[in-house]
Amino acid sequence: MTATQAAGPVPRPPQSRTRVEAPPKLTGAACYAADHRPDGVLHAVLVGAPVAAGRLRGVDAAAALILPGVTAVLTAADLPAFPELPPPSAVRAMPFSDDRIRYEGQPVAIVLAESVEAAEAGRAAVVVDCERETPVPIGHGRREPVMDEDRGDLDAALARAAIRIEQTYLQAPRHHHTMETSGTVARWDGDRLTLWDSVQASSTVIPVVSTALGVDAADVHVVARHTGGGFGAKGYIWPHEILAAAAARIAERPVSLHLRRADQFSNVGYQPWMEQTIRLAATAEGVLLGLEHTVVNNTALADTHVEPATEASKSLYAVPALRLRQQVERVSLNVPTPMRAPVEGPGLWALESAMNELADAAGLDPLDVRLANFAEVSPADGRPWSANGLREAYQEGARRYGWRTRHQRPRRDGPWVIGHGMATCTMGSFRFPGVSRVRLRRGGAVVEANVHDIGTGVQTVLCQIAADELGISPDQVEMRWGDTDLPRTGPTYGSSTTVGTGSAVAAAARDVTKQLAELGQGGRDPLEALDRAGLDELVGEGSFELPGGAGFNADGAGTPYAIRTWGVIFTEVGVDPDFGLLRLRRAVGVYSAGRIVNPVTARAQMTGGIIWGWGKATMEESDQEPVSGRWLAKNLSNVAVPVNADISFTDEYDEAASLIGARGIGELGATGVDAAVAAAVHDAVGVRVRDLPILPWKVLAGGPLSP
Ligand code: MOS
Repeated sequence: MTATQAAGPVPRPPQSRTRVEAPPKLTGAACYAADHRPDGVLHAVLVGAPVAAGRLRGVDAAAALILPGVTAVLTAADLPAFPELPPPSAVRAMPFSDDRIRYEGQPVAIVLAESVEAAEAGRAAVVVDCERETPVPIGHGRREPVMDEDRGDLDAALARAAIRIEQTYLQAPRHHHTMETSGTVARWDGDRLTLWDSVQASSTVIPVVSTALGVDAADVHVVARHTGGGFGAKGYIWPHEILAAAAARIAERPVSLHLRRADQFSNVGYQPWMEQTIRLAATAEGVLLGLEHTVVNNTALADTHVEPATEASKSLYAVPALRLRQQVERVSLNVPTPMRAPVEGPGLWALESAMNELADAAGLDPLDVRLANFAEVSPADGRPWSANGLREAYQEGARRYGWRTRHQRPRRDGPWVIGHGMATCTMGSFRFPGVSRVRLRRGGAVVEANVHDIGTGVQTVLCQIAADELGISPDQVEMRWGDTDLPRTGPTYGSSTTVGTGSAVAAAARDVTKQLAELGQGGRDPLEALDRAGLDELVGEGSFELPGGAGFNADGAGTPYAIRTWGVIFTEVGVDPDFGLLRLRRAVGVYSAGRIVNPVTARAQMTGGIIWGWGKATMEESDQEPVSGRWLAKNLSNVAVPVNADISFTDEYDEAASLIGARGIGELGATGVDAAVAAAVHDAVGVRVRDLPILPWKVLAGGPLSP
């Protein structure tokens, strides 16, 4: 509970519940998009351009068409002319729209076959003839400004500062690589199209697909229940979804188009390469006077993705003078997209690394530097915080970690030299409107909402919320979900589902309770009340709406409060000075994110985020080969698992953020980890790596490593 918190209803104590979807997932009963095999289904694979830049001269499919099982090879000549696509399509112009090759793997043909194996054999036999040009590699593209923002007088702040820090921080591109690759099964029944789609926001598929194919939106129906991981790669609409539907119409048979693992690299997005330069102006006590943050991210030649990493610098610390610059650099790659955690994820890598460097320059504890710059109100616009438990998180995290006494503990453990690092975590609180329905029936309740389960436990949490509101057991609640015929909710991204859909479900349950009261059955067990009212079913509707009917807002736009989530991460890293190897020995995270509905699933989100952050910090890198311009390696790399992670949440109920008091958690845990790990490596062996991932050679290149 924090001092700034608005007085709200007395929150019910959080209940840990294991996931209702766990048994079907473990037994294989859970149905993913690719598990749908409508009668007569054909399998499609995309044929990608073999060069990263040039012009398509022709596609020779003759050798493919004689292979057993191959039924067709579609090229631009077979496909309809696609119009320009509206957001949230990831691309404005579909592939096949002209003969330009802008990235390696850009689809130039689609092989249809009776099996995936036959389709892949067909692909290998297709001959693509290209005129090759020189691709534009990362670091050599044209840079375009996309956003400038200034506050106060930065030059004066720099002139006045006792301490100035200026450093550039890099991070490699990295791909989401969900367990279930992106894919779509499309079936036409006359003019009506059904898509079984592996997505994070099925409602938004409809306007894009209907525009692309020139069909009535009412005739497009999307089913998406279990989504085998998303991480942002399935947030926007990608060309393969439209191509599956187009191919099915041409073939007059259902088509399943699931990207092959290697095809994921070029046919959906990734987190871009980023170059961020931070300039800090501070007093000798580490108090910020000014902050400059310049961000460049790569984008595609024809499509633009901006990774707005400067948001972190705008919203986290009380800094009077700001200069924020965002640029994109156009290179011969497919377009990037948001990736867990977007925005502040990359932003904090730079900002929090610079804050750690400031602490070292000032001879201060990095925790004290954060406390000295705590923002009492939103630095962006002066609004009070809806709630802000960051100070409590710092205090509790430092206590649990033993931060203040870290250097009194042994500095070596066998081959490992031990270092400690910390960083602040923060995300905007993304909110999307949506509606939900609760049907009270004999024996229990049914929640209806078009959500998807990307592995976060959303069914479990929504059933809990409905049960809490109705006063029945979560075991008496089931969900109907993952179908665009159900009430439209916000997307399953941006850490927004529990906040928005959870609130709509709570409102729908309250509507049921209100109707029971109007029937003279208030104050009873709802199932008994239904019975006494002589009803078989009672339907409640609920919605989560934003000020001004907005379709999205971050940071509580349009409300009297600034809404964000907060946290702190402390990491203990072992560095092997002979080999430059790193081990995450311990991580402690404490988060301020409003009410936690289900501690078990919430904790899983945060440990997942920390593991994800460790991967970003030390392992993940999708290189663009600079001569050919293609993604260098198109396969999976390792994953790392922390030995021990200690997660907790500050106790809050944030009424201003949502009806259920939650502010959103999913991606928060993935912020700050990289900066904390880099600081721990520096603490261990004195090497400052400013270029993610922190690979062994970079540690060894940093000079003599004796502790
Ligand atoms: Mo996340 S990038 O909002 O799926």
